[in-house]
Amino acid sequence: MVEQQQVRSLTSQVEDAVTEAMRGVLPADVTEVDPLIRRSEHADLQSNAALSLAKRLKRNPRELAEEIRERLAEVPWLTAEVSGPGFLNLTVDGGRLVENLGARAEDPRLGVPLTQSGQVIPVDYSAPNVAKEMHVGHLRSTLIGDALARVLGYLGAEVIRQNHVGDWGTQFGMLIQYIVEHPDQRWHNDEVDTDRTGGAVSALDSLYRTARRTFDEDPEFKVRAQQRVVELQAGDEATLATWREIVTESEKAFQEVYARLGVLLELDDVAAESFYNPRLQGVVDELRELGVVQESEGAWCVFFDDLKGPDGTPSPLIVQKADGGFGYAATDLAAVRYRVQELAATRVLYVVDARQAQHFDMVFRTARRAGWLTDDIEVVHVQTGTINGPDGRPFKTRAGGTVRLADLLDEALRQAERVVREKDPELPDEELRRVAHTASIGAVKYAELSTARTKNYNFDVEQMVSFNGDTGVYLQYTHTRIASILRRAQDSPAAFDTSAELEPAERLLAWELDSFAEALDAVSGTLEPHRLAGYLYSLARAYTSFYEACPVLGAPTPEVRANRLALSSLARTTLATGLGLLGITAPDRM
Ligand code: ARG
Repeated sequence: MVEQQQVRSLTSQVEDAVTEAMRGVLPADVTEVDPLIRRSEHADLQSNAALSLAKRLKRNPRELAEEIRERLAEVPWLTAEVSGPGFLNLTVDGGRLVENLGARAEDPRLGVPLTQSGQVIPVDYSAPNVAKEMHVGHLRSTLIGDALARVLGYLGAEVIRQNHVGDWGTQFGMLIQYIVEHPDQRWHNDEVDTDRTGGAVSALDSLYRTARRTFDEDPEFKVRAQQRVVELQAGDEATLATWREIVTESEKAFQEVYARLGVLLELDDVAAESFYNPRLQGVVDELRELGVVQESEGAWCVFFDDLKGPDGTPSPLIVQKADGGFGYAATDLAAVRYRVQELAATRVLYVVDARQAQHFDMVFRTARRAGWLTDDIEVVHVQTGTINGPDGRPFKTRAGGTVRLADLLDEALRQAERVVREKDPELPDEELRRVAHTASIGAVKYAELSTARTKNYNFDVEQMVSFNGDTGVYLQYTHTRIASILRRAQDSPAAFDTSAELEPAERLLAWELDSFAEALDAVSGTLEPHRLAGYLYSLARAYTSFYEACPVLGAPTPEVRANRLALSSLARTTLATGLGLLGITAPDRM
């Protein structure tokens, strides 16, 4: 096995060097020093530390900067210059930069440190509802959750994917009763078209709507449906059998969507609402013993001083209803207890629509009161905003219904076929379909993952599949360009040359390549995959500028050519790895 080689980025090496130099010039009682390193227009990096320290120490900033610079003169690979009122402009020796990249290129993990090892992180994401069409809202949670699971796993965390599928509730009484009374209805995956539609879920969704209508119109059906709920909750075998069939067929249909999207979720990752049923009574009993719940009009509730309805009456978390039933809240309380106590989580993530913020706030606070959650465990509602239509208005079909995920993906596929065809009219049909599939899924994912997750965005397919600009297609295309150069260079060697004089475009590319780990750490710190997307976009742009300014195959000397090939090869691996962590395929040709 190859030893993992953790490579420190040059930014952090510069940070260390400047911190060390600062310590040397500062009075001993100034202990916390921040070198305040930023990217710079005039050099590789700049430090603004002298300016902020001068204020604290009541000294002249330029003088202070000068003293730090003198100390830095001892670092052979760093050139420091004082500029303006007291900035330090910092330039790293090209050879040192190249050497660092060489170390990355040798490591299969590109030198990325395992900053999350030892963490156990359940990630709750996707969580569609049985017998209900998956819609665009579930798309956000699915794609963001999947990217977070991939990044955290790559950084060494033990990620436990939790698909909290909504598979329980009184609405199933109605649906089961309707299905039992209409055995001729076709809704199983093998009886309906699973390709273009959502399969069983689509069929069940419309059966449910018919059942609902019947329930409202036919008082006798209503009585039978209500009786069915009682039987379901009492665990009546025949009722449970139908329920299980509905659940199984729905989950199969969800898996088809996941396969099409290329997300990691598998059947094994399902820990649906019903999974917690056997634990619910225990949760309430424990909360009662601890005095966390109070009885109110027959229901067991948790009250919060600061959470009141518009009329000033408290709005509690209802853990058990007066009729003894349990709802969404009880299930989530059981889930948080399970994740902490049984999965031994150190951090728990819930990638769910921002509109459920109050629910999670109440659940987490209740779990803290119960002592299930302690300060050393971080639970986060990773909030997502709303996806709107291309016109910026709520996403609805012309008939006013919710837009189905499958339809959106079909539309993205059609648009991708169009642009790929335009770019390469000669492409054989089969190849076209393959490329367009990869491009359309990449486009949809990238559009999602390059947006701050709490922001609302417009689902504009035409813009998403463009070859230019900040799109998935542009990134994939950049990858194919690098792959093509490397293919054509086949038998010439790629080798980093530490004696090379770097051109500005090479230097910029080198800095980007050296910052991959920092982009990943930003994702794990902020739980914002767009940090990685943004990084990959600047990497692709840096490569494009490099490619335009510095001939690779036509380089002036064999050494320069080898060095540029090595840069290209690392760019390709970094881009492919980064796209892979967003769940996006990096094709060799398109
Ligand atoms: N099924 C829910 C919905 O569609 C999302 C569940 C999110 N996860 C959770 N633990 N509550 O809105």
